[in-house]
Amino acid sequence: MTLTSTHTRLIDLLPTRVSDDNGLAQDVMQGLSQSPKKLSSRFFYDAKGSQLFQQIMQLPEYYLTKLEHQILEKQRKEILFAMDTHTPFQLVDLGAGDAYKTKLLLAELVASKADFSYVPLDISDDQLNLLLEDLHHRLPKLPVQALAAEYFQGLEWLNQNQRQRKVVLFLGSNIGNFDLEEARNFLCTLRQSLNPEDAFLLGLDLRKDPEKMRRAYADAAGVTSAFNLNLLHRINKELQADFDLDQFQHFAEYDPLEGTMRSFLISKINQKVHIEAIGQTFSFEAWEAIHTENSYKFSLRQVEEMAGACGFRVQDVFTDPSHGFADVLLRPV
Ligand SMILES: C[S@@+](CC[C@H](N)C(=O)[O-])C[C@H]1O[C@@H](n2cnc3c(N)ncnc32)[C@H](O)[C@@H]1O
Repeated sequence: MTLTSTHTRLIDLLPTRVSDDNGLAQDVMQGLSQSPKKLSSRFFYDAKGSQLFQQIMQLPEYYLTKLEHQILEKQRKEILFAMDTHTPFQLVDLGAGDAYKTKLLLAELVASKADFSYVPLDISDDQLNLLLEDLHHRLPKLPVQALAAEYFQGLEWLNQNQRQRKVVLFLGSNIGNFDLEEARNFLCTLRQSLNPEDAFLLGLDLRKDPEKMRRAYADAAGVTSAFNLNLLHRINKELQADFDLDQFQHFAEYDPLEGTMRSFLISKINQKVHIEAIGQTFSFEAWEAIHTENSYKFSLRQVEEMAGACGFRVQDVFTDPSHGFADVLLRPV
């Protein structure tokens, strides 16, 4: 545990970080041994990946951040009122990143002298350290307890810390990176860690024109491509591999039947890649794909059903004027 100031501290719940690599080696070993090949999107966010994601959020094509920012900016008072933020609580932000949008709520809460502390959770401690630094300057009196943890470790932490009322945020359509069964498992596990007076605000990208969605995941300037390729660079760096990044290409497509945007890295040639840290060489055929990310797009009916099956009711739905994105306020029943 690192104490960063009187008001802020970072607690590390990632179990293997000193001796290991947070599971990167195991994920790479498993993912590249299977067919089709796969790498987990949770390893996108090293320092460089987090920086690239900041750039993605600024892209004209990346509507997700803009729409959710618009919802939180325009409706923040109603949202906070609906979450009962006039009684003391802990604000837990799952996958907080740089908390670009959460800061709208934090500023409003601080201005209204709400009695709360902020608990950002992220798998990237680089990201958390930057966030702590920023909050220390921006809102110096705000008590912050950052958790370096994987989502499900965060749910365990919630389970063990039920004494204070919780308002949980899961913004940015991060839930869309799970497949539907994982998403339901996540919601049901979260529900078990919450009490009836707690609240859960879930940010969701809604189904819309497939072309608009595809452009957001394959932008003209190539930033999402660099973001995906950075995963191979990270494996080269952390697991001493010899991926030639020029011989892989990024590709994204939307499946309207499943409502999933899928991202891939595709090998342009027949090639072999050696990964020293796991003592393995993997063969790639020309145009063979590595699946790197799913971004699931929801309908509101589906969310209501899934939440209901896990013991939540929909209290409010906050959307932007185009109904492209929704922040859904769920309450335990
Ligand atoms: C798409 S960003 C969203 C950030 C922010 N919540 C927003 O809405 O703009 C996803 C964040 O979740 C974190 N993340 C990804 N997978 C995670 C996991 N399995 N457990 C915890 N954090 C994770 C990443 O490090 C990254 O900062």
